Amino acid sequence: MKNFRVLQKEQSHWAYATPAIAAIFYPFLLKAYHAALSFSVTVAVTSFLLSLVIPVHGFLVAWDLGKKSAPTSADVFLKQISWLTVASPAIFVADGVVTYMLGSSLSDTTLWLIFWILAAAAGWLAHMKSSRPVLLSRVANMPTYSPLLRVAHGISALLIIVLFLGMHLTNHLAGIFSEQQHRHLMDLFRVIYRGHIVEPAIIVLFLFQTVSGIALVQKLSARPADFFRSLQIASGAYLIFFVLGHMNSVFIYARKFAGIKTDWDFATGAPTGLIHDAWNIRLVPHYYLGVFLVLSHLTLAARLIAISHGARPERANVLAVIGIVSSAVVALVIMLGMCGVHVST
Ligand code: HEM
Repeated sequence: MKNFRVLQKEQSHWAYATPAIAAIFYPFLLKAYHAALSFSVTVAVTSFLLSLVIPVHGFLVAWDLGKKSAPTSADVFLKQISWLTVASPAIFVADGVVTYMLGSSLSDTTLWLIFWILAAAAGWLAHMKSSRPVLLSRVANMPTYSPLLRVAHGISALLIIVLFLGMHLTNHLAGIFSEQQHRHLMDLFRVIYRGHIVEPAIIVLFLFQTVSGIALVQKLSARPADFFRSLQIASGAYLIFFVLGHMNSVFIYARKFAGIKTDWDFATGAPTGLIHDAWNIRLVPHYYLGVFLVLSHLTLAARLIAISHGARPERANVLAVIGIVSSAVVALVIMLGMCGVHVST
């Protein structure tokens, strides 16, 4: 917490580069995890956990900046970079898939380094150039967000849950029992979500969700935000990258480019699996946060709807915390199943 207080009170220049500087280390911590697997599980687990600190740190910085009622343009820029670092697990997966598909001569790690060094420099320069609260007058007059956009975003989310996401996550949860249970449910659910009309509708809805999500994140960038709103925006930012990257992996990379079946083996990185493969390990934080943050995002939306319909904020907050903790547990159960832990029925 000391760092965040420094950020808020003293406005030190270097602090404006820290989330992006931290993100630079993400691929190296995953590489360290893999290298350490052969000689020390403790070092491997520590490296892996440290990689998770990067998106958490990004969230904490964005949350802390959200406490400012009169942010400067540099604060807003840093907040946006912090949201990007929250999304670093999803961005790194997309980076790996896209560089592979393009046959890029630069490795995913090289591109990663270039991007985050530039982001760190941009954050630092932005703060050097301007520390005036230039947005104050604009913020005061700015509507929180267009009510129409917000309603459309919510209706689209509801359709996504009914047509696909509810089934998709139930399907992945079944993996904790066995691969067969997962495959059995997938065959059943595919009849619905792979339908001639349903599948294109799901794609359009997800694309709309990301475009409207970008607009909402943009509009909320300069606004103060409490913990719940900060998590809602940060999870939304993660999902923008996760959804686009995941759809690219499923529809373009697997089905069109590589001709791979998008089944359990694809999801779990068979035959090596998720935790013993130098490339696949990046899928663990990517999927864990994908599930955790999509469920948290929905929980936080439900909290706002409840409050706007007269629910007591204290009660809505308690329920939201229960929802967020449950989301973390569901994501953990799914990942355990995908990493080979099964409970017998
Ligand atoms: C542990 C987490 C997840 C894993 C392992 C995973 C894996 C997969 C796999 C294997 C498919 C292909 C399904 C098929 O061929 O029938 C798929 C499709 C898809 N997933 Fe996920 N997914 C995860 C979480 C999510 C989340 C959180 C979202 C949304 C926020 C999502 C959105 C999608 C979409 C839009 C498709 C394409 C659906 C279609 O075929 O029409 N996934 N996913």
